[in-house]
Amino acid sequence: MISLHQTLSKHVTAALNRAFPEAAAKANAAGFPLDPQLVYASKPEFGDFQINGALPLAKPLRKAPRQIATSIVEELNNNQDFRNLCEAPDIAGPGFINLTLRSQCLITEIETRLKDVRLGVELVQASKSGEPPAPVVIDFSSPNIAKEMHVGHLRSTIIGDSLARILEFRGHPVIRLNHVGDWGTQFGMLITHLKQVAPEALTTANVVDLGDLVTFYRQAKKRFDEDKDFQMSSRKEVVKLQSGDLTALKAWKLLCEQSRREFQKIYDRLDINLTERGESFYNAYLQSIITDLERLGLLVVDEGANCVFLEGITGKDGNPQPMIVQKKDGGFNYATTDLAALRYRFKKPPEGDGACRLIYVTDAGQANHFAGVFQIAKRAQWVPEGGRIEHVPFGLVQGEDGKKLKTRAGDTVRLRDLLDEAIMKASADLRRRLKEEGREETEDFITNVSNVIGIAAVKYADLSQNRVTNYQFNFERMLALQGNTAPYLLYALVRIAGIARKGGSFNIHTNGLQFNEPQEWCLVRELLKFDNVISEVEEELLPNRLCNYLFELSQTFNRFYDQMPILKAPEQKRCNRLALCELTANTLKLGMTLLGIPTLERM
Ligand code: ARG
Repeated sequence: MISLHQTLSKHVTAALNRAFPEAAAKANAAGFPLDPQLVYASKPEFGDFQINGALPLAKPLRKAPRQIATSIVEELNNNQDFRNLCEAPDIAGPGFINLTLRSQCLITEIETRLKDVRLGVELVQASKSGEPPAPVVIDFSSPNIAKEMHVGHLRSTIIGDSLARILEFRGHPVIRLNHVGDWGTQFGMLITHLKQVAPEALTTANVVDLGDLVTFYRQAKKRFDEDKDFQMSSRKEVVKLQSGDLTALKAWKLLCEQSRREFQKIYDRLDINLTERGESFYNAYLQSIITDLERLGLLVVDEGANCVFLEGITGKDGNPQPMIVQKKDGGFNYATTDLAALRYRFKKPPEGDGACRLIYVTDAGQANHFAGVFQIAKRAQWVPEGGRIEHVPFGLVQGEDGKKLKTRAGDTVRLRDLLDEAIMKASADLRRRLKEEGREETEDFITNVSNVIGIAAVKYADLSQNRVTNYQFNFERMLALQGNTAPYLLYALVRIAGIARKGGSFNIHTNGLQFNEPQEWCLVRELLKFDNVISEVEEELLPNRLCNYLFELSQTFNRFYDQMPILKAPEQKRCNRLALCELTANTLKLGMTLLGIPTLERM
């Protein structure tokens, strides 16, 4: 309904300006035009939209809010175009104005959407000079080589992918970057250790798998922490690698290749697309970060290390917090790499990506790191005018005990096992249900449905939480057919597919629709919120908004389905209701696709 909102907004602003011409002229001249605050109604009984501006205007206009509201309404009533859109406005409480769209407007909107694959979601516009929109970089997933991908990376992967899908659908060119940790000190330790215990792994492909690598890494880390000589050799090994030593590079490549193959298996199962551009990519740009910071006068030597002191961010001692960008031994760190990456992403091609917005999806624990990096980048003027940088933080994944998710034996949970278990449980649920319902299905059907439900449940459980809060991982809850779960949404779609199969072929009747029942109107209004939700997620980067909307829509649909005859209704009503079923299915399907969640016809 964004187009309706925009038209309405024009009328409402004009009415406000006509009602208070002097104040409006003054406000316009000052560059702060009067704002009627037109928003979607907060409750259905308030209609479709409400004007909240009368209250805050009371002071500047020196009038009672209700009086202001009355003047606005008078002006609105004088405007025939407005009256064609809305019923007579209502003034409520201290001075809110409630607006209810005329039924015919809602019907026309539904009819338009039935023919529109974009369901009212507009594409972003090219710039005024006709250039295509600049890319948005989404930095997500980003596991570390030679370490196991953990549930935190799973969250980043799922949330990042859905944000990417939504922005892509809006028409932004999205660069999906996998900023894998492929350049840190872990390689020094690993190579030194492997040289002694499994040298063949450094020269031959496929001799170890990721599981072995992770074990080797753990052993290497232990030695590094305990053994001074080992530490020295490891440090030397990193320097060798970073300065391009061929043997070290070959070993590094093999190790990366090994991890990459494992990561890819997870991405394939989750249907995730990513462009790998790891930390190593920025190696060539690190030195210039230091040189530039020095030239800009931002660099300070503190205890032998090169740092930038952060403004407004203090450490425990109350003094400004330094961010180290070059260690005492000359090595660069995570922050240096992020500064180089940020600068590269904003720089115009061919020197960079030419992005206009950078989005980083990581756990909330990295908030300080990003706050520091963003501040330094701004002070160094590496952020172009209008450029946006956002950290999209998320909470921890916890077990049911509220503690860090662990296996029964106390180990970290491997993603592969977690997905397998979700699918296994979905399969058990399905077999039980089939038995209860006396249904016979092929093994292929069972395998496919369990796969879809298992993956959908894991993804949806994550996405439907407000990402900022910690989230408790619980198979039973995420696989339940009731509640705000993937199976509940999938089931609504299956119901509609069932109606279509039983002779309610869709696509028959998209003109001259009519609705009479409250259940129909509820569904109509819910359906028309879709485009607004998408633009909210685009702005606020909270996929749970879309989840909540799809859940509300499914609930509204289920009430309609339970309370209204559809296929058995008389011809005219049947057509109207089938049209609503079709649009509900289209909306749910598109919404789920934008979340990265597969759907089913039968389950
Ligand atoms: N590799 C990091 C980790 O596992 C995440 C990287 C996030 N992206 C970034 N540009 N720092 O925690």
